[in-house]
Amino acid sequence: MKTVTIGNTMISVLTGDITAWKGDIIVNAANSGLLGGNGVDGAIHRAGGPEIMEQCKEIRKLQGGCPPGYAVITGAGNLDVKHVIHTVGPIWEGGGRGEAQTLANCYRSSLQLANEVGAHSIAFPNISTGIYGYPKSPACDVALKAVTDFLLGEPEDNRLEKIDFVCFEIDNANLYVRWLERYD
Ligand code: APR
Repeated sequence: MKTVTIGNTMISVLTGDITAWKGDIIVNAANSGLLGGNGVDGAIHRAGGPEIMEQCKEIRKLQGGCPPGYAVITGAGNLDVKHVIHTVGPIWEGGGRGEAQTLANCYRSSLQLANEVGAHSIAFPNISTGIYGYPKSPACDVALKAVTDFLLGEPEDNRLEKIDFVCFEIDNANLYVRWLERYD
């Protein structure tokens, strides 16, 4: 739909259901309890089957969940990817509670974790813009700035060749396309 290349990494905007995406890693917009929910979280657990939840429960036992802005990784059960990264976005409370920084941390920590496991491709949903109520336009700014800043920082260990934003809603996709057009 729209593609921009930074260094060796191609950033693309797609529309659709992230559970149908094929590649190394999909990112889940989870909650701190890691016990599933609705939205993209529900879709990933439904499509992936019980194995993902079993591994989330193990992580809960070890570290008691996942704070906002952080990320954890599991296998992918029946999904056509190798791993699922579960990151916890901020709940929108008006913007004065560090929401932007927390949201940026979600993208950064997911990219770091993906590189730690040697992934070449990753797909992100529009974290926090559903049930957590983050307004779509500022969330798009934060997401794309976090990802492009990460790549422009030329991390030595970056192996990601493909970063896809899989937008479930067309208005999100349009925002991402417009943002990326500034790179043309
Ligand atoms: N594929 C891609 N994107 C999806 C899908 C899907 N199958 N289903 C929903 N989305 C989109 C939504 O349209 C929204 O833009 O994901 C974005 C994030 O929405 P939510 O899933 O509601 O996530 P979030 O706002 O981060 O809220 C997290 O919701 O389900 C709970 O357990 C989750 O408590 C946590 C909260």
